[in-house]
Amino acid sequence: MEFRVRVPATSANLGPGFDAFALALPLLAEFDVRPGRGYEVRVEGHGDGVPSGSSNLVVIAARATAKAAKEQLQGLHVVQRSEIPIARGLGSSAAAIVAGCVAANEVLGRPLDRQSLLRTAAGVEGHADNVAAALFGGFTIAAPSPEGPVATSLEFPRAWRAVIFVPGRQLSTRQARRILPRRVARADAVFNLARTAIFVAAVLKKDGTLLRLAMHDRLHEPARLRLVPALDFIARAARAAGAFGAVLSGAGPAVLAIAPARLAPRVAAAMNAVAEEESWAGTAQVMRVRGIGAQARRHESTE
Ligand code: HSE
Repeated sequence: MEFRVRVPATSANLGPGFDAFALALPLLAEFDVRPGRGYEVRVEGHGDGVPSGSSNLVVIAARATAKAAKEQLQGLHVVQRSEIPIARGLGSSAAAIVAGCVAANEVLGRPLDRQSLLRTAAGVEGHADNVAAALFGGFTIAAPSPEGPVATSLEFPRAWRAVIFVPGRQLSTRQARRILPRRVARADAVFNLARTAIFVAAVLKKDGTLLRLAMHDRLHEPARLRLVPALDFIARAARAAGAFGAVLSGAGPAVLAIAPARLAPRVAAAMNAVAEEESWAGTAQVMRVRGIGAQARRHESTE
């Protein structure tokens, strides 16, 4: 029996919602999975440097899922193809982790529900924002709890688009987390917590004026500007072209703007133009937020 698991790319933080907010995007990673003896991963597409053995994230997540379900899993054979660029802040690791959790859960007869899969996936990833959007789709809010993270998903306004600028260069999340300050000033915490609440209100009320106020951060972007100085001019260009806001996508270096659909192509063009002027090569793409998260379907093997 073979399964095809499809998992969306994700953009986390969305400005003020550090480690809590994320959006699912229509770039997909696809995994053909069948139970086997031992673990084997073949990587096709965006896969430079992705390990094929036991340190592959699909394998680590599948094992963690079997352990969480207190089940035995003999092994998985995985063929992985992905449209998600690696180490850009678009959740390529989260997609692999969620795929491993969902695949193992299918093979084991679905012993775990989605919140348990979230806990397992977040345990492997280290934070819950990307894996929540990869599992649930839409706009997700993840929160820590004594039993592990919980998450909920809201529908994202249909008239809004994500405009994602993906630069040519990579940045490791580990490096982009190491640079963060250990303590934050109370004024900065208040600045962000008010904006996360306003962000949720903006989404529920489909109110762009509120979103414009919400898409600012003082907890992680100031430190990360040292690693991604281009954020400053790309975000300014996006706002000037009509975006509600523009922020670092996850840990970066990709930049996410949110714009009304009719202005989104202009926003993408403005991001591309300024990036070229400043010799920060990359490409902006207009995307609809993907309402659905990871899916597993039975699949006829072609091998
Ligand atoms: N919330 C995470 C961060 C997302 O900003 O470090 C990156 O995986």
